Amino acid sequence: MTDTHTKVAFVTGASRGIGRSIAIGLARFGCDVVVADLASERAALDKTAEAVTALGRRAYAKSMDVASKADVTATVTAVLAEAGRIDVLVNNAGILKPSLLQDLDEATFDAHFDVNTKGVFLMCQAVLPHMRARRFGRIVNIASVAGRKGSPTQGHYAATKAAVITLTRVFAQEVGMDGVTVNAICPGIILTEMGRNNLGSEAEVRYWTDVTALKRLGEPEDVVGPVCFFISDQADFVTGQALNVCGGLFFD
Ligand SMILES: NC(=O)c1ccc[n+]([C@@H]2O[C@H](COP(=O)([O-])OP(=O)(O)OC[C@H]3O[C@@H](n4cnc5c(N)ncnc54)[C@H](O)[C@@H]3O)[C@@H](O)[C@H]2O)c1
Repeated sequence: MTDTHTKVAFVTGASRGIGRSIAIGLARFGCDVVVADLASERAALDKTAEAVTALGRRAYAKSMDVASKADVTATVTAVLAEAGRIDVLVNNAGILKPSLLQDLDEATFDAHFDVNTKGVFLMCQAVLPHMRARRFGRIVNIASVAGRKGSPTQGHYAATKAAVITLTRVFAQEVGMDGVTVNAICPGIILTEMGRNNLGSEAEVRYWTDVTALKRLGEPEDVVGPVCFFISDQADFVTGQALNVCGGLFFD
């Protein structure tokens, strides 16, 4: 895939895991990259920024909490002042603390919706006036196959991701006339800190590997190509879609 001009891409949750790989992959794809994460992750975030600049692209590292409207507004304003524009937004920041729904406390339920769902909503709301005014934007929301399937101990998380898929579909319809596409990626099991914490025993790793068509679990880099596709000129007529990137774990 090739592209015709340098884009400025904003990636949330970019200090590690899938977000870090997406930030570096987008730099390799020719983007300048804004990498954002919680202030507590600053050292790792700066390493992602260094990896972007090592590829010859500009990097902007920003400490922020996607669940805070004040943080989101201030960061997007600062980025627009520094970088001049935001062409691409990848809403990747997310949390998962497994629990049976019966045992789940209210604060944990709220935290998942605040980060995984409200964070996507706030980030989209913040960048859309700018994208719509320029009549160009590419938004990619990292949801999950959990949002389509739901599984025990992930009910709250799955509900946040189902909401992200719905937000994707509705935003796409509300902003398409202004040249902005909004799509989602639904990863399966990806071997990050979140993925490994969630897997538990070796027996579980073997089980999930066995039920995956490609007979392996995902690496963060497996998510990069689909993100590049959605932001590329090759996907100009694709919006409001949610693509499973799961090695053949789930088919709906
Ligand atoms: N790993 C998997 O198996 C898997 C599967 C499906 C979907 N996903 C989704 O992919 C995305 C990335 O997951 P990952 O596996 O790389 O997880 P991870 O835990 O390794 O990384 C998540 C990143 O988000 C950041 N983050 C968390 N809360 C934040 C907040 N309030 N503001 C800003 N940043 C915040 C973290 O600091 C971290 O850098 C998440 O949205 C996750 O739900 C992951």
